[in-house]
Amino acid sequence: MGQFGVTILGVFLCFVLSFHNVLAIETEKLISSQDFDYGDALGKAILFFEGQRSGRLLTSQRVKWRGDSSLSDGKPDNVNLVGGYYDAGDNVKFGWPMAFTVSLLSWAAIEYQIEISSVNQLGYLRSEIRWGADFILQAHTSPTTLYTQVGDGNSDHQCWERPEDMDTPRTLYKITPDSPGTEAAAEAAAALSAASIVFKPIDSNYSSRLLSQSESLFEFADNYRGSYKDSCPFYCSFSGYQDELLWAATWLYKASGDNKYLTYVTSNQGWSQAVSEFSWDNKFAGAQILLAKEFYGGQKDLSKFKTDIESFVCALMPGSSSVQIKTTPGGLLYIRDSSNLQYVTSSSMVLFLYSKTLNAAHMSGVQCGSVHFSASQIRAFAKSQVDYILGNNPMNMSYMAGFGSKYPLQVHQRGASIPSIKAHPAKVGCNDGHSIYYSSSKPNPNTHVGAIVGGPDSNDQFKDLRSDYSHSEPTTYMNAAFVGSAAALFAPNESESESECLQ
Ligand SMILES: *[C@@H]1O[C@H](CO)[C@@H](O)[C@H](O)[C@H]1NC(C)=O
Ligand SMILES: *[C@@H]1O[C@H](CO)[C@@H](O)[C@H](O)[C@H]1NC(C)=O
Ligand SMILES: *[C@@H]1O[C@H](CO)[C@@H](O)[C@H](O)[C@H]1NC(C)=O
Repeated sequence: MGQFGVTILGVFLCFVLSFHNVLAIETEKLISSQDFDYGDALGKAILFFEGQRSGRLLTSQRVKWRGDSSLSDGKPDNVNLVGGYYDAGDNVKFGWPMAFTVSLLSWAAIEYQIEISSVNQLGYLRSEIRWGADFILQAHTSPTTLYTQVGDGNSDHQCWERPEDMDTPRTLYKITPDSPGTEAAAEAAAALSAASIVFKPIDSNYSSRLLSQSESLFEFADNYRGSYKDSCPFYCSFSGYQDELLWAATWLYKASGDNKYLTYVTSNQGWSQAVSEFSWDNKFAGAQILLAKEFYGGQKDLSKFKTDIESFVCALMPGSSSVQIKTTPGGLLYIRDSSNLQYVTSSSMVLFLYSKTLNAAHMSGVQCGSVHFSASQIRAFAKSQVDYILGNNPMNMSYMAGFGSKYPLQVHQRGASIPSIKAHPAKVGCNDGHSIYYSSSKPNPNTHVGAIVGGPDSNDQFKDLRSDYSHSEPTTYMNAAFVGSAAALFAPNESESESECLQ
């Protein structure tokens, strides 16, 4: 295409983008009663991951109350499993939800690259993705081996220690052809394919390595099918592995363009189910959005995925005749009492993404029985969930530590609730941690900035008690889904998009 063609295309794109911005701004004005600084919320949600890092920290580490930890992980098997993320308020590395976290962060980086980069957060987000993806690469030690967990969950949970002086058994768990775990291997494959798309423009070698390891993990997952049991009772698979296989094959298709993965999802579309939850256990909705986009792009034999994701939307949208998920009196989606905000952040990410997909396909919205929801109504409902989390709620507080003027002070997280190793170098053992710090009624000495907690109860009430882990514990996948939601929301920087148009 000649210079002229490029210019015409540029002008056309600018027109479309500006038109889009005007529409988005108009819509938001109509529905939003309160706006927050979504760029600040996004940056903090990403910063949270540095507080969860395991291993040898980088000199660029911004969360200063943390230090190096778990530097011998993997040693009993002579493998290097140093690195990765602690899962939540504990010091265990659970590979299955960690991989889901990497998938979600990568998805946000792919879909909202411009938004995230306009508030200078893309570099940070990529480094959080890489920290997790590197661990998955290390854990895949042979074509048919994946280490899925480091640390014995029971003994870890009995102790209250900073990661820096933790001394509970760092037991290793792995899946092999003899003891398979399709969910864990397929999720790892999904994560690496999604991350390979993120890194393609900036580090093509790394991106190719991620893709080839993703292919290897998918073969392992698919050839040795068996449900994953190891991290039970902490993470038990209830939804089986068919959702992870579809999700992984979909990401592999996006990352590689190889038609064999498209054939895989097409011939296995009978596995797809209409669901009302997107979580570390159940990934159907994620695969369905991505495949609905392919459907609108011309792959008409993928219509089941479009039908199923629209059922998801209808199950969540208040006022829909097929609504299945209740909201609290204050308007928060309420799926279950334990760590409910994980489902809120993941549902809003799905709703934002589907609304974006509908706009891109020039579809007006979703028909739920007799009620029609426009793409902007779906987006507005997702925004209401983010706003609730950030402070528009009956407690008038933010559920993200360090955001706004009132937020949880007793976040259930070991490192955050004990003075930093730098301020208090003497070891704090298992029992002292419990009696002195876990049981303390004082605020945590370290604000775990960006940590979103499990959230309020079904009546919008929140006690801010460290012992109340169902409501006060953060998790990596909860924050990861919030990253996608916050990125979807903050208004595009208009002066920047204008200057792009003038070039
Ligand atoms: C990428 O890989 C190629 C081929 O293996 C190698 O020649 C090149 O030096 C690598 N580039 C970087 C930046 O590592
Ligand atoms: C929250 O703010 C509203 C409006 O200012 C007020 O009526 C309400 O009492 C506040 N609730 C709490 C729990 O502080
Ligand atoms: C928007 O872009 C302008 C010009 O590049 C810059 O000065 C401003 O800080 C940006 N605003 C935000 C919120 O990023």
